[in-house]
Amino acid sequence: MSANVYPVPGDIAKNALIDKAKYDAMYKQSVEDPDGFWGEHGKRIDWIKPYTKVKNVSYDAKDLYIKWYEDGTLNVSANCLDRHLEKRGDQTAIIFEGDDPNVSEHITYRDLHERTCRFANALKSMGVGKGDRVVIYLPMIPEAAVSMLACARIGAIHSIVFGGFSPEALAGRVEDCGAKVVITSDEGLRGGRAVPLKRNADEALSHPGVKSVEKMVVVKRTGKDVAWNDTRDVWYHEVCAAASTDCPPTEVNAEDPLFVLYTSGSTGKPKGVLHTSGGYLVYASMTHQYVFDYHEGDIYWCTADVGWVTGHSYIVYGPLANGATTLMFEGVPSYPDASRFWQVCEKHKVNIFYTAPTAIRALMREGVDWVNKADLSSLRILGSVGEPINPEAWEWYHEHVGKRNCPIVDTWWQTETGGILITPLPGATDLKPGSATLPFFGVQPALLDNEGKELTGATDGNLVIKDSWPGQMRTVYGDHERFIQTYFSTFDKVYTTGDGARRDDDGYYWITGRVDDVINVSGHRMGTAEVESALVAHAKVAEAAVVGVPHDIKGQGIYAYVTLNAGEEPTEELRLELVKWVRKEIGPIASPDFIQWSPGLPKTRSGKIMRRILRKIAANEYDQLGDTSTLADPGVVDDLIENRQNR
Ligand code: WT7
Repeated sequence: MSANVYPVPGDIAKNALIDKAKYDAMYKQSVEDPDGFWGEHGKRIDWIKPYTKVKNVSYDAKDLYIKWYEDGTLNVSANCLDRHLEKRGDQTAIIFEGDDPNVSEHITYRDLHERTCRFANALKSMGVGKGDRVVIYLPMIPEAAVSMLACARIGAIHSIVFGGFSPEALAGRVEDCGAKVVITSDEGLRGGRAVPLKRNADEALSHPGVKSVEKMVVVKRTGKDVAWNDTRDVWYHEVCAAASTDCPPTEVNAEDPLFVLYTSGSTGKPKGVLHTSGGYLVYASMTHQYVFDYHEGDIYWCTADVGWVTGHSYIVYGPLANGATTLMFEGVPSYPDASRFWQVCEKHKVNIFYTAPTAIRALMREGVDWVNKADLSSLRILGSVGEPINPEAWEWYHEHVGKRNCPIVDTWWQTETGGILITPLPGATDLKPGSATLPFFGVQPALLDNEGKELTGATDGNLVIKDSWPGQMRTVYGDHERFIQTYFSTFDKVYTTGDGARRDDDGYYWITGRVDDVINVSGHRMGTAEVESALVAHAKVAEAAVVGVPHDIKGQGIYAYVTLNAGEEPTEELRLELVKWVRKEIGPIASPDFIQWSPGLPKTRSGKIMRRILRKIAANEYDQLGDTSTLADPGVVDDLIENRQNR
């Protein structure tokens, strides 16, 4: 733990929406009287039919339900667009900054509204309606936001698949949610390189399991020639040109689904995290406003991709519901050079900047000259998300990017939580580098021991949340039993996060990382089981065990122990082939950093792989293996140590 404490800067405290006293009072009310608190704050969005009930939740695994504002009706796109038209129709809603630094575009609320209405009508004409699923497989271009909002406008459920995922991964998600329409582009552009999205989508849709797709909408991004299926494929610009700009928003219930987003768990295939409309929007917009101390007129930039939940809540829904100006960046931090982030901050006079520790560490390695080349005087608030930020990276971010004037909000949350749960508020919370600090309003964290007993005071434990908040996921798409199993069965009557945490004497939380078999590579979540099943799907592989390994830039890297089928030779060529294979099965983010050929794996007598030992060897801490006497064959460990890859 870092010893440094950074008090709230005076000018921030003076102008912030929430100061210390206000935080304390609001937090107290939020947990003592959730109905009163959320009943009042639910009014921050526009309802078609106002709710009369606020919270209706049972965390009992035998009878589990989570409902917020259940008799209210609304439309999410109308909240993000229509209600702003009168006051800020001509204000910029989205600043698009292209991969090419010479390309940028300002899209006003009026313009975004018109584009959304057109595309919503186009989707309608394809037969898409309330409750239908639409998969979005797009680069970071304005059409991604338009597609989300167009689905929301007609009550369709979107499911975004990150553009870096492979055709196989895309196929699995399209099949699982039974999408009627897939939206993609001819190509994507990242760091000057083209990504063949349409070709990937064609391949995905040719999978035998994918039967539901009727139309593929293709955005022309690079103009590259692409294969065309005349009965299935349509151009985005053509269907939009033909559509009317008049599209009344569809009235949906607060608990009607808004989107499904697939995320990795510790077992099996990725699960479709389902979020609903009313509570989600209240929570995303409220956290966006208070966590980033968003003020009217601020230019706000979150560098995530809309393929992740961060992009859903804090590029699109939260900021637009608040009438903010949100920046969408198509490119990468290193292109054309390592000053790109800071150039974009200078160019668009960004006030609030939200990024991931992995990006900070990568840029830190390039040296401060890249930062100092840019005028960063517009910055007021900095944010971090996706994984624990190491104090060294925090201090660098604070000193060189924030010039010691900008509070850093280290925001802890998950795809499942819909919005930020543990975080500083800029005007209220003294900062400790590496700590996500204190809970947001309505959030009741607790630390449990492995038997489920709640621990008090300064301690380490399993991080759980004791009661619901409006942005919480409602189910796993198509598998409610899995939802209950995953989040509500490990411990009784609490939401289990899967993270471990420490609480210090000031009540500050320090997230220590996953306690399950999920790893975090560059802020991207991956189930070790997923990588293992990709490896064993290869004809030459008999068995595989995958663990996370500390990595300077990525936070965690992927270390795979592979046992080959009898008679197969462990060659360098095969190693490269397996890396390529995993990239093809899942996507480049799942590329193993190390593959160790292992004739055997350390197993207990009952056949369970002892991952603790594999993690230690991968981390090159082979002298700290602990008790190995329960292994069926302790001899395997010597071989694993001798041939370890990460020295
Ligand atoms: C997991 C969730 C939250 C949106 C992006 C990732 C880790 C996330 C932090 C943080 C320490 C963090 C946790 C969590 N995580 N933010 N500020 N400090 N760890 O969403 O892919 O659902 O991953 O990311 O381990 O469980 P996700």
